[in-house]
Amino acid sequence: MEKKCIIVGVTAGIAAYKTCTLVSSLKKAGHDVHVLMSENAMKFVSPLTFQTLSANRVITDTFMTDWTPEVHHISLAHKADAFVVAPASADFIAKAANGIADDMLTTTFLASYCPKLVVPAMNTHMLENPATQRNIAQLKQDGIMVMESDSGYLACGDTGRGRMPEADEIADALGMALQNDKFLQGKKVVISAGPTCEAIDPVRYITNHSSGKMGYALARAARNAGADAVLVSGPSVLKAPYGVRICHIVSAADLAETVLEESEDADAVIMAAAVADYTPIETAKEKIKKSEGDLGIALKRTQDVLLELGKRKKAHQVLIGFAMETENLLANAQKKLEGKNADYIVANSIADQGAGFGVDTNKITILSHTGQKAFALMSKDDAAWTILKECLEHDRGEKDAAGY
Ligand code: CTP
Repeated sequence: MEKKCIIVGVTAGIAAYKTCTLVSSLKKAGHDVHVLMSENAMKFVSPLTFQTLSANRVITDTFMTDWTPEVHHISLAHKADAFVVAPASADFIAKAANGIADDMLTTTFLASYCPKLVVPAMNTHMLENPATQRNIAQLKQDGIMVMESDSGYLACGDTGRGRMPEADEIADALGMALQNDKFLQGKKVVISAGPTCEAIDPVRYITNHSSGKMGYALARAARNAGADAVLVSGPSVLKAPYGVRICHIVSAADLAETVLEESEDADAVIMAAAVADYTPIETAKEKIKKSEGDLGIALKRTQDVLLELGKRKKAHQVLIGFAMETENLLANAQKKLEGKNADYIVANSIADQGAGFGVDTNKITILSHTGQKAFALMSKDDAAWTILKECLEHDRGEKDAAGY
C-alpha cells in the first residue's frame, strides 16, 4: 500500500489501549500518523504514548498557546488521506452525527473530507440504545464507514456486543477506505481459497499444503476495489477479511456446490483453491483400526469446478483459474486455460524461491488467450491487486483491442 497520511482519533474508552497497537502498526507500515485525542481519552492512555508511537505531536487542544502559522484542525484535515476514530464513544458518535465540533478531535473530523472510519466501542446497552443506533445510521448515511463491533466479555463486566475489533482488523478495514480506485464497484466477485479435506473416516482426511493466503489476499483486494466479494474457503487459520462474505467449506463436493451456486450471479469467479482431485469412494463410519500389512484407500475423481464453471460461463463473466506446478509451468498452464474455457490462468511454480504454499510472496505469470505476462516476485497482496487490475479492470473487447 502507498504511504498515506492517516489521522487516528481516540475518544474515552478502555479499548484505547488497543489503539496503541493500531498506531504502531500503521507507523511501521510507513504511514504518516497523527493522533488526536479527546480530553477524557487522556485519562485512559497518555498522549506521550501515542506521540512516541507515531513520532508526531499529539493534538488535544483546539487553542494551543504555542504560536504556529497553521490552523491545526484545518491543515491536518486538508492533508489526511483517511480518518479513523477508534475507540469511538457514544458521545463522539452523537456529536459526529450531528455536526457538533467542540474540541480538536470533533472539529478536525468535521473539517475533513477524506474517507472516514468510525469504530464504536462501548457497553452493549449503550450501543444498542436507539439513540446510538440512530446516530450510527446517520453516520452511514453521510458516507462514513462504521465498523461492526465484536461480541464478547466487556470491561464493564457485561457480555455482548460492543467490543472494539483488534488492531489488525481495523487496519484491514482501513485498507478499504484508503483505496480510491474502486474499479470493481457494483461487481460480484467470487473467490475460492485454501485446501479441501476429504474424509477417510471420522478421524482422518486427505488434504494439501494450501494456506489460503493468495485467495484471502484476492478477496481483500476485490473488496478494496469496491466489489461485493464472496470468499469460499476451505479450512484455514486466516481471519476473514473485514466486509467480505465468507462461506466455509470442507470437502471438494462442498466447494463445488457453494461456488457453482454463488457463481450464478457473479461477474467474475477466481478459483484460487487447491481442490482435491480425488476423494475416498467411501468414508468409513467408524475409525479404521490398524491391522497387519499394507492398507489401500480406493479413491474416485472429484468434480472439476473450474471446468464446470467454464461450461456454464455467461457472456459477461470472467473466469480465472490458477495453475500451481512443479514442472513445465507454462505448458501445463496453457493446457488448463484452453481445456477449462478459462479467460485467464495465473501460473506459479512452487520451484520458484518465495512462491508457493504458506509464504507471503508470489511470482506469477498471467496467461490469456492472446498472450502472457510474467511478473517479478511480489507480496501476495500486490499480486492480488495485479491480477484484478490485469484481468478485471477492462472488459474482454477492450483488452483484445489493446492486444493483451
Ligand atoms: N480446480 C477445480 N476443481 C478441481 C481441481 C482443480 O476447480 N477438482 C481448479 C483449481 O482451483 C485451479 C485449477 O483448477 O484454479 C487448476 O488446478 P490444478 O490442481 O493445478 O490442476 P488440475 O486441473 O487439477 O490438473 P492437474 O492436477 O493434472 O495439474
